[in-house]
Amino acid sequence: MQVAVTRRIDDDALAILASIGQLRYWDNDLPPDRDELLKLLDGVDGALMLLTDRVDAGLLDRCPSLRVVSNLAVGFDNIDVAACTARRVAACTTPNVLTQTTAEFTIALLMAVARQVVPAARAARDGDWKTWYPFRFLGRDLAGATLGIVGLGRIGASVAQMATGLGMRVVYSSGRTDERYQRLDIDELLETADIVSLHVPATPTTHHLIEAHALALMKSDAILINTSRGTVIDADALVAALEEGRLFGVGLDVTDPEPLPSDHPLYSFDRVTIVPHIASATMTTRMRMSSLAAQNVVAVLTGVEPPHCLNPEVLRNV
Ligand code: GLV
Repeated sequence: MQVAVTRRIDDDALAILASIGQLRYWDNDLPPDRDELLKLLDGVDGALMLLTDRVDAGLLDRCPSLRVVSNLAVGFDNIDVAACTARRVAACTTPNVLTQTTAEFTIALLMAVARQVVPAARAARDGDWKTWYPFRFLGRDLAGATLGIVGLGRIGASVAQMATGLGMRVVYSSGRTDERYQRLDIDELLETADIVSLHVPATPTTHHLIEAHALALMKSDAILINTSRGTVIDADALVAALEEGRLFGVGLDVTDPEPLPSDHPLYSFDRVTIVPHIASATMTTRMRMSSLAAQNVVAVLTGVEPPHCLNPEVLRNV
């Protein structure tokens, strides 16, 4: 049995994979390019992959020995699941273990934006701290504010619970039903919320869900937070809204494209805080994710039900 790993990961996950065969390891912090990826996957039975690796019909046809692709992520917009299913390749992910961590980071980003933590810290570091300023770096209170969750799934629900603890009123627009919060349609949510937090997967339906019209509906001093996928926001429309002076602030853990080039106009706004897709990045959670991704591979290749498979119908004949 041969298993590929497409990025440098921790030893525990490597040991889980090595227990069933030979490893082909891309021992690098940067991803393989497409040709390197195809070479790495050539002849392997399974692969532990990252959200930066595109798994499409072309790749699957070039790698017919693949029986399982296991994403080190809960999101799977990099994987064409239908193409996997058509070729009887199991596609696996790592949900649950990152829910709380990602929700905590959403709150961290929200607080950072609401209280201008990043511009204030930059001013202090740059020597622009001359006195105690009564009316500088003024933020927005969260207690009493209305948080609009777009997508009440696992992570959205966890954010909702934390926000309730902070005294926020929570409304939501899609996902599971929860009687504790008011469900609104998306337009009503955008008009009502002081803070809008995005928690939907990247799909054709959610592509540019937040575009010019949606941004125009939002309160002019609202905060927008995105820890889901960058394509949910139309970045050009967001730049235009910011140029018009709309929105109190924006927090982006995810962007379109990723990485966001350093000359992108979004970086020019002090009230926009951008971080490089780190919402699930704690040591504990990343270790749990990589172990789970490895367990998915091992389970499929040893004929056991994997912890999280997107297309379990292929498992019968793997
Ligand atoms: C990270 O974005 C993930 O999908 O796990």
